[in-house]
Amino acid sequence: MSVKIGIVLGSIREGRAGEAVAKWVLENAQNRNDENVTYEIVDLKSFDLPFLGLAPNESQGAAIKKWSETMASFDGYVLVTPEYNHVVPGALQNAFQFLQPEVANKALAFVGYGWLGAARGIVGFRAHLAYQQIAMTQQQINLSFPTDFENVMTPQQAFKPGAWHDQELNTLFTQLLGWSKALKALRDGQIK
Ligand SMILES: Cc1cc2nc3c(=O)[nH]c(=O)nc-3n(C[C@H](O)[C@H](O)[C@H](O)COP(=O)(O)O)c2cc1C
Repeated sequence: MSVKIGIVLGSIREGRAGEAVAKWVLENAQNRNDENVTYEIVDLKSFDLPFLGLAPNESQGAAIKKWSETMASFDGYVLVTPEYNHVVPGALQNAFQFLQPEVANKALAFVGYGWLGAARGIVGFRAHLAYQQIAMTQQQINLSFPTDFENVMTPQQAFKPGAWHDQELNTLFTQLLGWSKALKALRDGQIK
């Protein structure tokens, strides 16, 4: 069975740290050489989504359609997210509000980064995504500014993840792929 995993880059901020984190996730994923599994970065910034509830103009309508189709095309997701004021970015939460059948009965794993690895934001967002019938893995990665980044909050900031995260990432992918395959079988009607 083939599965497709979307690595969602949840920050749309100018100069975001998240880009380096998403690339690290993609590199580690591809290094696993999983058979029949493809990985792709989904950059939220490339979708000009309006706030849910406002009447979209023509280009925003097209963006909603593209976002919906893009997210529907995956069997599972890795959500790369910071936290702002102890919650995930508003743009990320808003983007998921547009989805339901596109993500239902699919698996998702979190990779957070921040002073405490975006742990508080992730805990809150788990409740939101549970309502959308998304299966979230136990293993998550919490990348911390003091241990996984150099020169934090300066123009020289650099992402230098600790080696101990490699094993965590492997566990995360093992859990994510297992559920992504099982849930694909469910969606395909192979499990009644
Ligand atoms: C408005 C705002 C609120 C923030 N709140 C938090 C927070 O609650 N916890 C935290 O660890 N970092 C917080 N930060 C720092 C971010 O983690 C840091 O800016 C990080 O680089 C954000 O990710 P990004 O650059 O990919 O957007 C905040 C940053 C901003 C701009």
